[in-house]
Amino acid sequence: MTVTEVVPNPLAEGLRARRTPEPFVLTIFGASGDLTQRKLIPALYSLASRNYLPERFGIVGVARTEMSDEAWRERMREAVKDHARDEFRPELWDRIAAGMRYVATEFADEPGEDRLGTVLGELDRELRTAGNRVYYLAVPPSAIQTIVTEIGKRRSAQGWTRLIVEKPFGHDLDTARELNTCIREYFAEEEIYRIDHYLGKETVQNMLVLRFANGIFEPIWNRQFVDHVQITVAESLGIEGRASFYEQAGAIRDIVQNHLLQLLALTAMEPPIEFSAEAVRNEKVKVLRSMHTPGPKNVVRGQYGPGFIEGKEVAGYREEPDVAAESMTETYVAAKLYVDNWRWADTPFYIRAGKRLARRETTIAIQFKRAPHPPFEVHSAEALRPNVLLLHIQPDEGVSLAVGAKVPGQGMTIRTVHMDFLYGGAFRTGLPEAYERLLLDCLLGDATLFTRADEIEEQWALVDAMVGPWKRDRPAFPNYGAGSWGPAVADELLHRDGRSWRRH
Ligand code: BG6
Repeated sequence: MTVTEVVPNPLAEGLRARRTPEPFVLTIFGASGDLTQRKLIPALYSLASRNYLPERFGIVGVARTEMSDEAWRERMREAVKDHARDEFRPELWDRIAAGMRYVATEFADEPGEDRLGTVLGELDRELRTAGNRVYYLAVPPSAIQTIVTEIGKRRSAQGWTRLIVEKPFGHDLDTARELNTCIREYFAEEEIYRIDHYLGKETVQNMLVLRFANGIFEPIWNRQFVDHVQITVAESLGIEGRASFYEQAGAIRDIVQNHLLQLLALTAMEPPIEFSAEAVRNEKVKVLRSMHTPGPKNVVRGQYGPGFIEGKEVAGYREEPDVAAESMTETYVAAKLYVDNWRWADTPFYIRAGKRLARRETTIAIQFKRAPHPPFEVHSAEALRPNVLLLHIQPDEGVSLAVGAKVPGQGMTIRTVHMDFLYGGAFRTGLPEAYERLLLDCLLGDATLFTRADEIEEQWALVDAMVGPWKRDRPAFPNYGAGSWGPAVADELLHRDGRSWRRH
């Protein structure tokens, strides 16, 4: 079955497009990094290509590597060619590149900041950007405090200043609090944009539309009708040469603390009174506050050994370059969580996240309770399968509802079929990259899709409680093969409750 094609609302699109940001200079700390090349500059290019950016804007790259303006522009030009979703247009690139500068410095040392200040001043004069500044911190948490202090001390007296902070935001609750306190010394909460790129994904935003722009879901979106929820963030990729980061973070800090808990909060939250930064974030933080600490039996972890991904042999985690031979870092986490409020009491939220799993798949499955009494003769287990609303965040973006249907013919055989809405089919347009949406939102001063200080701290409090007991035991790692669906302990977590992970 296919749902009727839905036409995008050109009026709403138009209103947003018409609100172009004011001229600005964006400074990226961590400009020689992967994120800048693969995501940030290509996203800015696409925004410019679609006329979302003002005529006048500048981009300053800051990193340790010595490089001339020209060399950096050249690298970024290649990055756009390789990673932007829009066709490369030399005349557009030349226009963007004219406002691009590069400053080589030890991130934030006094002379470096002075040099940056000079460059920003020059761009302000050249491009008439009126002191409007965005600072993007794509650097490790250890570098953030110094940079914030240095730029905080030199805040421009004119225009507006906004600060985008990449994840990981701290390493635990204490370090996240420390970071929040340091940043708030120089910047007001409205000026701070803590990024979680999952919130920029079109399908994640669609969760709010699905729930709150349709009348049929909310009445059944609760403990009375929902048996349990499963949230999966599965990746087939390994750690992609990021051992120094990943050895410290592991799956729980890399994915659960941010992306996964945000997905859970959006699934469980109450309807906000409006789609505004404060209203949406107030509701999400209430969910995070109502989550109680899972007991140690309800949090399991794994680490991948060697195996096969799409027929290709891949190394185990401990054999990855720069990973310790006896590393106890988890590359997989699963947990059973509860949201203790009237809507969700006693409804389990099973979550799992892992690297080197069989397939890339991010989904949220709302499994409803079984029909209380099927009046049909039951021929197969199929007849008894509950309805599942499946939100495909990626890939195959869309929504699908599993319902029982009669198999044509004599008798009453029942089989599960799917009512599907696929983005590709319904809208026939490519989905924007998450970073396009988030960069533009920040330039427009809209923080709805960014995480507030209290949300981050609640997320860390939960993660700290989950990892607390880990110090006491040493599971036998590796405990799942690359290319599988994770360790047996994760299956047992659900089997104990008479449930199982959704079939793939
Ligand atoms: C990042 C993590 O935040 O998200 C990576 O650090 C992970 O480890 C990535 O691969 C996944 O993002 P996406 O958009 O590909 O699901």
